[in-house]
Amino acid sequence: MNAAIRTLAVVGRARGHTVIGIRNGYAGLFAGEHEEIEADRTEGITRHGGTILGSSRCLEMMTTEGQGIALQRLQDLSIEGLVVIGGNGSLTGAHIIATASQGKIKTLGLPASIDNDVGHAGLSIGVDTAVNTIVDACDRISDTASAHRRCFIVEVMGRNCGFLAMRAGIAAEADAILYGDASLVEEEVYERLRKMLARCFAPGRNKKRALIVKSEGLAIPIGRLRERVQDLVTPIAPGVDVRETVLGHVVRGGGPSALDRTIGQRLSFGAIMGLEAGLTDTMLGWEPPFGVGKETVDPSVRLIPLAEVLAETARLLDGTSPVIKRRMAMLAQVEEILPG
Ligand code: F6P
Repeated sequence: MNAAIRTLAVVGRARGHTVIGIRNGYAGLFAGEHEEIEADRTEGITRHGGTILGSSRCLEMMTTEGQGIALQRLQDLSIEGLVVIGGNGSLTGAHIIATASQGKIKTLGLPASIDNDVGHAGLSIGVDTAVNTIVDACDRISDTASAHRRCFIVEVMGRNCGFLAMRAGIAAEADAILYGDASLVEEEVYERLRKMLARCFAPGRNKKRALIVKSEGLAIPIGRLRERVQDLVTPIAPGVDVRETVLGHVVRGGGPSALDRTIGQRLSFGAIMGLEAGLTDTMLGWEPPFGVGKETVDPSVRLIPLAEVLAETARLLDGTSPVIKRRMAMLAQVEEILPG
């Protein structure tokens, strides 16, 4: 997000705009916490995780009264163009401001959420870094797992979206990837794992470790999962111990990858161009699946109406999106060959 903020500040000022940063998201808007962002103040922030502006989960913005106040505050500040950087909640707020201001406050959204659960976002800001962090953690865990011939379960964030587990799991040579999106009942999960373990530790194989990457969206507590996996593996491979690691918020910090910086920079550059062209109620997406949206001068950045973004976000969550269906189909294809 810092890469996006710096680009807005530097490019915005270079093009003659005054750039105001609102602290702590919508909560800061209510509290009157804002300041002009001088380009020099943003020097060096691109390599830092998080956001210099701060962030919040703001319940007030979910009420009609709160939305009216937010609009009033923006008008009091004479804001002509608003760029909202965030996930589902933030972009819902952006859509409300865009429509309630009847086009007076041009409002654009940039998707930022490690969960990659924003519709048509392609890759949201933060996802690539999170995937890299998970892969790095799994690689480290694999070192000790291989030394001891153990089975590890690594749980990763992602809320109800299994994207992080899937993308990182394959890159880390996971033997099984568990995610809530498939809505499997618990016993079906154990049956899949039993088959996987039987293949991993089949007689004659010299496989050194088994790695299960589990999304937090799979509603089986990791402690119970570990016990059940231990019960499954012991008859197949006596002596193989099962361990668990929950990566948690570790995955949400750290210096951003080069790709994440690029995405933040190019989406915000596109946002300034969009605001200058009078664009509103729109999100900028990084290579959205199926080429959805209108093209820009940047071949990787596309424009999608916020209403459509929110509708697709709902479809991602309830599993009816073609993106989820394609993802499930691809995972099903590789699943049988994962323990290789
Ligand atoms: O949406 C991002 C996310 O990190 C999810 O992956 C996770 O479930 C949640 O936020 C954690 O929220 P909090 O930081 O409020 O505990």
